[in-house]
Amino acid sequence: RIAYVNGRYLPHGQAGVHIEDRGFQFADAVYEVCEVKDGLLVDEGRHLQRLTRSLSEIRMAEPRHPAALGAILREVVRRNRVRNGIVYLQVTRGVAPRNHPFPNPEVAPGLIVTARSINPAEGRERARTGIAVITTPDNRWERVDIKSVGLLPNVLAKQKAREAGAFEAWFIDENDYITEGSSTNAWIVTGEGVLVTRPADHSILRGVTRMVVLETAEDLGMTVEERPFTLAEVRAGREAFITASSTLVMPVVKVDGETLGDGLPGPVAIRLRSVFHDHAD
Ligand code: PDD
Repeated sequence: RIAYVNGRYLPHGQAGVHIEDRGFQFADAVYEVCEVKDGLLVDEGRHLQRLTRSLSEIRMAEPRHPAALGAILREVVRRNRVRNGIVYLQVTRGVAPRNHPFPNPEVAPGLIVTARSINPAEGRERARTGIAVITTPDNRWERVDIKSVGLLPNVLAKQKAREAGAFEAWFIDENDYITEGSSTNAWIVTGEGVLVTRPADHSILRGVTRMVVLETAEDLGMTVEERPFTLAEVRAGREAFITASSTLVMPVVKVDGETLGDGLPGPVAIRLRSVFHDHAD
């Protein structure tokens, strides 16, 4: 496998970053994950826009023009012969002796890109049966709209899910509302058939998949509400699902060990999954 590291394309075995990279020492870095489908980047423009926003929120300049970043993403995909999978990009504040304030004078940002193949049959099979989720207190900081690599709470939540035999963990805030999953956005369809997902404030990541699914649902004439929802609403609802570039639309059939409805993926999730790729970037 080939990675892009600060201007060079290297085999993973030879690719490395400095021990004083601020991404490594402080999680002083932001990232993007973009789906690759049939060799093409899905929603590249939206991912690069979100990267620009994350960088500006942490007061970093763009390491390259977004068009140049896009070219690097595509080159890494090409060199790894990824037809279906994901491409990962990370920008760090660069290398400097460990000290909390920004390096002064500024140092060059770090830029790495990797890609890997994922067999689409895996997701298809998972979507056919549906997934289980667990819930866990949202113990993250208040700016999770910034796509920062500081993901320790997400890692611990995901691991807790795996140990419970579940695929995802849903974070619950102090008011008993679900915010989002450890690496996915959360959705329900209410008893009245209304599609509900949490508003894109500072408490969730503004998922690219979330945005596209919202637009797709509206185009299909579904009633959509962006508002917080509780676990009780999940249990009382018709269906639930998650979205992310890595999972696409994935039906949820079990929450905290309790089966939802008839335990089968819901029709809305199935429909949205099947039409998801019909949108234009
Ligand atoms: N995760 N919420 C969180 C906390 C995420 O980390 C992600 C993406 C999403 C979905 O965003 P999008 O639809 O833009 O992928 C929501 C990526 C896939 C990851 O960390 O691997």
